[in-house]
Amino acid sequence: MATGKGLFGSSLARKYWMALTGLFLCSFLVIHLLGNLPLMTGDHEAFNIYARFMTTFPVIKAVSYLLYASILLHTVDGLMLTRQNSAARPVKYANYNGAANASWASRNMALLGTFTLVFLIVHLKSFWFEMHFGNVPTVLIEGEEVKDLYTLTVTSFAQWWYTAFYVFAMAMLGFHLWHGFSSAFQTLGINHPTYTPIIKGIGAFFALVIPGVFALIPIVIYLNSLAA
Ligand code: HEM
Repeated sequence: MATGKGLFGSSLARKYWMALTGLFLCSFLVIHLLGNLPLMTGDHEAFNIYARFMTTFPVIKAVSYLLYASILLHTVDGLMLTRQNSAARPVKYANYNGAANASWASRNMALLGTFTLVFLIVHLKSFWFEMHFGNVPTVLIEGEEVKDLYTLTVTSFAQWWYTAFYVFAMAMLGFHLWHGFSSAFQTLGINHPTYTPIIKGIGAFFALVIPGVFALIPIVIYLNSLAA
């Protein structure tokens, strides 16, 4: 139900922005995961080169601003849509059997999204903030002093509780993507007897593999730290 008008105001516009920003954030996850893979193989130099590239290359820096704006818009629109939905239905349906009508993930998107936001705040404080504003020791790569984000990351994941937090957060992210990925295509109007099941399949694969490999990175680093 629309409570406002225009490019941002109506709930339909909000859903469109949620879908577009959500899919953009999914594409970021793929790039970010590929960049983080050298952490698993212990490739110190490759990871630091990736981190330097991500924080200094002008095109990537410009895309980063789009990324921050997308995270903000996705969060604000998500919270506003949730508020609108609960205001439109102040009394819970007496005979509503949620599990029979919708998946657990689809009924808990706001909770899953909020947890992902909490994760993101902790995550950005640990790495992004330290990279940009912290006193991270440097290493020499190709004759240039580069912040040693590899050591910072590996040291963080050597703490069991930090690794456990990441693994739990990736499970929450997985559920969020399980519903969110295919739901975005539906919002954008892609509803087709042949393509919709394919999109759902890709969404399920994405929701399992991307957070799964993200979770594997801290686990491998933690286990390596025990063996060291
Ligand atoms: C094992 C898992 C992860 C590791 C080791 C990791 C590592 C890092 C590091 C080292 C940075 C700072 C350098 C850079 O900008 O690349 C960073 C930035 C960032 N990470 Fe992660 N990350 C992980 C998972 C995630 C996940 C699951 C998300 C999103 C849900 C995420 C979102 C971000 C964002 C938004 C930035 C800032 C990017 C920018 O400034 O352009 N990360 N991450």
